Amino acid sequence: MRSTELREAFTGFFAARDHLVVPSASLIPHDASVMFTIAGMVPFKPYFLDAERPPAPRVTTVQRCFRTLDIEVVGTTERHCTFFEMLGNFSFGDYFKQEAISLAWELVTEVLGVDGDRLWVTVHHSDAEAEEIWRDSVNVPPHRLQRLGEENYWRMGDVGPCGPCSELYFDRGPEHGAGGGPEHGGPERFVEIWNLVFMEMDALPDGSLVELPRKSIDTGAGLERMLPIVEGVSSMFDTDVLAPVIAAAEDAAGQRYGADHGTDVALRILADHSRAIAFLVSDGVLPSNEGRGYVLRRVLRRMARRASQLGVRKPVAARLIAAVVEAMGSTYPQLVRDEDFIVGVATREEERFLRTLDIGAAMLSEVLGSGEAELSGDVAFRLHDTYGFPVELTTEIAAEHGVSVDLEGFRKSMEVQRSLSRSAVGAGASSRTEQYREVLEQFGATVFAGYSEDVLEARVVAVLDNGQAGERVAEIFLDVTPFYAESGGQVGDTGRISTSTGAATVLDTTSPIAGLVCHRAVLDGEISPGQIATASVDASRRAAIRRSHSATHLLHWALRKVLGDHVRQQGSLVAPDRLRFDFSHSEALDHDQLVEVERLVNMEVLSGAEVETTTMSREEAESAGALAFFGDRYGAVVRVVRAGSESVELCGGTHVASLGLIGSFIVVSETSIGSNVRRIEAVTGLGSLAMAREALDDLDEVAGALKSPVDDVLKALERLAERHRRLERELRSLQQARIADEASQLAATVSQPYGSELGALAGIVIARRDRLDTDALREIAVAVRGTAGCRGAVIGGTPDGGRVALVAALAPGEGLDASKVISVAARVVGGGGGGTADLAVAGGKDPGRIDEALEVARQEIMKISGESGGDRPS
Ligand code: SER
Repeated sequence: MRSTELREAFTGFFAARDHLVVPSASLIPHDASVMFTIAGMVPFKPYFLDAERPPAPRVTTVQRCFRTLDIEVVGTTERHCTFFEMLGNFSFGDYFKQEAISLAWELVTEVLGVDGDRLWVTVHHSDAEAEEIWRDSVNVPPHRLQRLGEENYWRMGDVGPCGPCSELYFDRGPEHGAGGGPEHGGPERFVEIWNLVFMEMDALPDGSLVELPRKSIDTGAGLERMLPIVEGVSSMFDTDVLAPVIAAAEDAAGQRYGADHGTDVALRILADHSRAIAFLVSDGVLPSNEGRGYVLRRVLRRMARRASQLGVRKPVAARLIAAVVEAMGSTYPQLVRDEDFIVGVATREEERFLRTLDIGAAMLSEVLGSGEAELSGDVAFRLHDTYGFPVELTTEIAAEHGVSVDLEGFRKSMEVQRSLSRSAVGAGASSRTEQYREVLEQFGATVFAGYSEDVLEARVVAVLDNGQAGERVAEIFLDVTPFYAESGGQVGDTGRISTSTGAATVLDTTSPIAGLVCHRAVLDGEISPGQIATASVDASRRAAIRRSHSATHLLHWALRKVLGDHVRQQGSLVAPDRLRFDFSHSEALDHDQLVEVERLVNMEVLSGAEVETTTMSREEAESAGALAFFGDRYGAVVRVVRAGSESVELCGGTHVASLGLIGSFIVVSETSIGSNVRRIEAVTGLGSLAMAREALDDLDEVAGALKSPVDDVLKALERLAERHRRLERELRSLQQARIADEASQLAATVSQPYGSELGALAGIVIARRDRLDTDALREIAVAVRGTAGCRGAVIGGTPDGGRVALVAALAPGEGLDASKVISVAARVVGGGGGGTADLAVAGGKDPGRIDEALEVARQEIMKISGESGGDRPS
């Protein structure tokens, strides 16, 4: 049996037992409490919590998952991986322990043909019921049934659904370690292949557990664990999902798998990580310095580092990813579609990292050269984290230099980093969340009627005060509302809610938990639960938001048309005054591309086509070609928005009825907001009119200032620039003439002893010149130095009456040092400067002492050259 048959056998078995087969959701979960889809149940969390109604009471999936919990172990064993597929069957308040256990046994032993005598079962120590079912109805012999502690209690995370679990282990045989079952035996020998979670509890943010409204089943069987057994091979790296990737890694590294433990570890890491990278990028994760992007970046770096340890000096991602696509593309066609994009993203990141590795090596040798006896834990961590140096490597290289590494400090920095990545996103709900849940439980989901209505009558179901004195801000909940709650980039509505006893100005609308719409408002008078209210959104603001939102869809479509299908929405802001659209693309758009995108959008606008919104099943939406890239949940009915001839997207937002209502669309800016992500900001409706008006007014003003007709502005500007250049040239040549003149005057004084203002000695002119800047003085001094019979010049003066400029240009040799001369002189005028022995400049603050400074310079020269200058004339 190969992987395709295994997937089909699994879902087919459950489909035949009334389970709805649901496609895999994205690796980017909808749920904010986890960063990635870490288990098959993640997309179903709202169903376990009873916050949403499931598409069917029983479902089955093959879910792509990604976990980094064991990433340090990956490669060192034959059973750990970051990316994996989880085969699962789920019951939402339908069947429970008895049926789940029998189904598991039947499928594993009868359909998949696993020898029951090699299976061991564990249950949670408190779960006598499960133990009894295994023993009495399945007939698992008691000596192969073990009770375990916390490892048989499954939690999705710190918060969320959880419960005791029961696991099936396959005994790989004595050659893989000690006997004694999962409890006592070797972990490589007893491999967990199936986990049955009896979802009973919900872990709350305060750490307490409350019972779930319905007992449910979450079963997870790791495909990578089951596949070696049904394929009859020794590990997942020998199965059809990974063996071709291992082969590609062997090829890239020029090494054989199975010959040496260290090499095997590296090859397994290459295979596992490249698979994870392919799926993460395909699901819309791009390398960055935070959140998911950071995790992807780390995975990519681990892969590149391993390759370089194997002696590979060039990027390997392209080759490995091609093997991943080959092995898994038929099950996941998105990989085939996105291959070029994935390879581009991964290779660019890998190339950048290989450069970083070189920088890290240089940094390490610099630190080691500094003479410290110990390398700090912080530096070791930075080398590990930023430059991809494993601490073992740092320790090894340090030891070669007789330097030790503060490993304790390193571990501390690692710990901080780990807890940062564990806390992920969105954790830390407050007790307010429980209040929201209560409102939702008591009154049900808020009905959103704002697609068609701006004003309506509604019943107030709850009012939550913020408990602050003074201005009364409250959160108001209605049974039905025209207010759109911020979501999918579209900002929340504002407006007014009024009853017979009070009115509230709604500042923002959000959905704090799925299904509930919260109107945050400033209260005037009283609004109480039970009252009938008139709820009206700020209609003109909403109309502007609609324009922005529909324009965003057209922009997305136009970008894909002009740049290619790799363009994907990475985020957006749909506001009344502007729209912002972030998308994956690796380079700046040139002017022609931007103009073309703008033109395509405006052509669609001008078509005046109606915007159609329909609801349909996800499958129907997919076959209609709807774009949906992240946060998509499956099984449910989806809303599809068709805007113009080709744009079809899944979207819950509000849109114009006809594209003509957008007005006109103007791109304001196109910038980079990270590697591989670009951002376009644009305006529509009156916003574009205002923008165009402003630009035209500015142009008028410019034309006025240039005294030129508007049509001729550019030519007038060019003429002006040309004139400017000419004047600059003239000015420069006048300056040169003055400099030459000054220089020859000064050089002429050199032959007369004490003939200049301050005296000359042995071919050196010391003089004062005001109203010339440092550059001019320097040129004069250099020119004097170059005149026959001169050895140099020291010139001081004030360019503007406030500051001091001092320069010295001295012929090299004879122990004369211009920088020394200038620094003693500069001290006199309260300044400093420097340069070389030939040429030095300085500034100062005390123009009253310039002559004194020049005298000091003279003395210094005399001292250095050992000549006697005699007395100065008085
Ligand atoms: N949620 C459980 C797990 O991930 C079973 O699916 O192991």
